Amino acid sequence: MDTTSTTKPVQSENAVAADVARAGRTYLSVLDLSPETLEACLVLAGRLKRERRLGPDAPTARALAGRTLALLFDKPSLRTRTGFEIAMQELGGHVSCPPSADALGTREPLADVARTLERWVSVAAIRTFEHTRLREFVEATTRLRIVNALTNEEHPCQALADCLTVQERCGAVRGRTLAYVGDGNNVATSLTHAAMMLGLNLRLASPEKFALPEETLDAARRVARHGAQLVQVHDPVEAVRGADAVYADVWTSMGQEADQTHRRAAFQGYRVTSALMAEANDDAVFMHCLPAHRGEEVDANVLEGPRSVVFDQAENRLHTQKALLLMMLGGVEPDHDNV
Ligand code: CP
Ligand code: NVA
Repeated sequence: MDTTSTTKPVQSENAVAADVARAGRTYLSVLDLSPETLEACLVLAGRLKRERRLGPDAPTARALAGRTLALLFDKPSLRTRTGFEIAMQELGGHVSCPPSADALGTREPLADVARTLERWVSVAAIRTFEHTRLREFVEATTRLRIVNALTNEEHPCQALADCLTVQERCGAVRGRTLAYVGDGNNVATSLTHAAMMLGLNLRLASPEKFALPEETLDAARRVARHGAQLVQVHDPVEAVRGADAVYADVWTSMGQEADQTHRRAAFQGYRVTSALMAEANDDAVFMHCLPAHRGEEVDANVLEGPRSVVFDQAENRLHTQKALLLMMLGGVEPDHDNV
């Protein structure tokens, strides 16, 4: 059984206590965090990134000792899954990966899976199709922390890494402008939430049929701070002109493969080419959550070019996921916790 250490936190763990106390039981959406908590998460991620070179001597190397993260993945993943595995290992915790057919299949109700895991583990990161499946986990349990590792609707772990990358590469998030070109999908939704909360101006360019719904834009505008502007257009050039960062994601997300031909036709004109990048600021960076389809949503020379920061984003998945785990797990008193 996964047991929480009853020893007092070491001094170094106390250093993160101010941050860790602020995250809640769920991270299904960026909107589950307050803007202050989101900012704290990025600060903590930056610190964890700097301290990583210390290896086992890093102040947080034992911070999650005795804690276990269950990874339940209904869809493929490299960055999210492996990022969580390495994160838990580097924080002194453990990972359990039950086969998705056993945990997320038709063998038993999700609520029963959730109530079983709740007895064993501190947190579950779940990648699945409908967002409502995560809610079933949340509603069936009272203590299990639940992280959205990507649903059809949102990808909030990605947005943390994206914002850290903008901060590093553009010198700040607040007041900068990011252009997202392509599908109004899960990645776009979470990026929109985070951008508005952090004061990052966002211009979305999508074909009309694939634009983010008005309700999503309204929800994001309600949490906007520091004068962040959110606009949705159909012309990629209009979105990209003068931007500090240009972001692309696949045109066909996992689970939409049957619609691929139709989507490829609908998104013609939304490829990020060097000509489109030339409309952005001279020092604008190119971003992509990966995996990417060269020659589809982005040309190979842009993805491989000097302005591409896609592997910074990939690296930052680790640091931000570590910060998230610390903030969700690290500040809880053992006697209020099951594990
Ligand atoms: N960007 C991202 O979520 O990558 P994976 O699908 O490999 O986890
Ligand atoms: N929108 C993509 C993101 C993959 C990380 C998908 O859902 O497949």
